[in-house]
Amino acid sequence: MRIVFVGPPGAGKGTQSQRLVERLAIAHLSTGDMLREARQKQTKVGRLAEEYMAAGKLVPDELVLALVGERITSPDCARGVLFDGFPRNVKQAEELDAMLAERRMAIDMALELAVDDEEVIRRLAGRGRPDDEPRVVAERLKTYWGQTRPLLDYYRGRGILETVRGDGTIDQVFARVLKAVDKRAGRGGARGSE
Ligand code: AP5
Ligand code: MG
Repeated sequence: MRIVFVGPPGAGKGTQSQRLVERLAIAHLSTGDMLREARQKQTKVGRLAEEYMAAGKLVPDELVLALVGERITSPDCARGVLFDGFPRNVKQAEELDAMLAERRMAIDMALELAVDDEEVIRRLAGRGRPDDEPRVVAERLKTYWGQTRPLLDYYRGRGILETVRGDGTIDQVFARVLKAVDKRAGRGGARGSE
């Protein structure tokens, strides 16, 4: 199964992804994690991405798409992938569809994790990642509403969008996530295998 996880910063995408990839035995592809690793290793991509991440803006599409293009060819992605924080705009979504189509694959489900801005601000206030300072969180939220939210219409139009509330405990949210995945799998999105 190939799932796209969409939600504002701090919605809990990373937290829920860890559990979901274990449950479904699929690969976890987080562009945020990949970019942070590149930044830490000071690769060319990492150095180029740095200023955008620090400002809460999207890293240029071509950099992100190059990272993803390389990653999805690795064997662990053959059984399925949970895309966490990617795509981040409609252009990236179109490119992802094209990359998958070349391999006769497609996205089975887009999972929206809905959390309001106040909760995002509260959750990120105490975490301490370099981009969690209030000014950058405000910019990340702005980026989300302006550039990432339109993806929901993109996937809704294909009839593959499921929305899950991201408030409550991590266990409560995970139960909702599993319910949404089961619902979608029941409609023909192959679960686990493929
Ligand atoms: P990325 O790493 O993707 O960050 P993000 O989506 O903005 O936000 P987070 O990862 O902080 O949130 P999350 O939803 O994963 O929540 P988490 O589980 O961590 O992107 C970072 C930057 O990289 C971007 O700004 C951009 O510059 C760049 N980038 C990445 N992908 C890109 C792309 N495709 N294109 C261009 N640029 C890209 O949880 C957050 C906190 O809340 C944690 O402390 C957690 O413990 C807590 N928490 C989780 N669930 C709950 C709960 N139910 N109740 C209470 N607390 C909870
Ligand atoms: Mg994350």
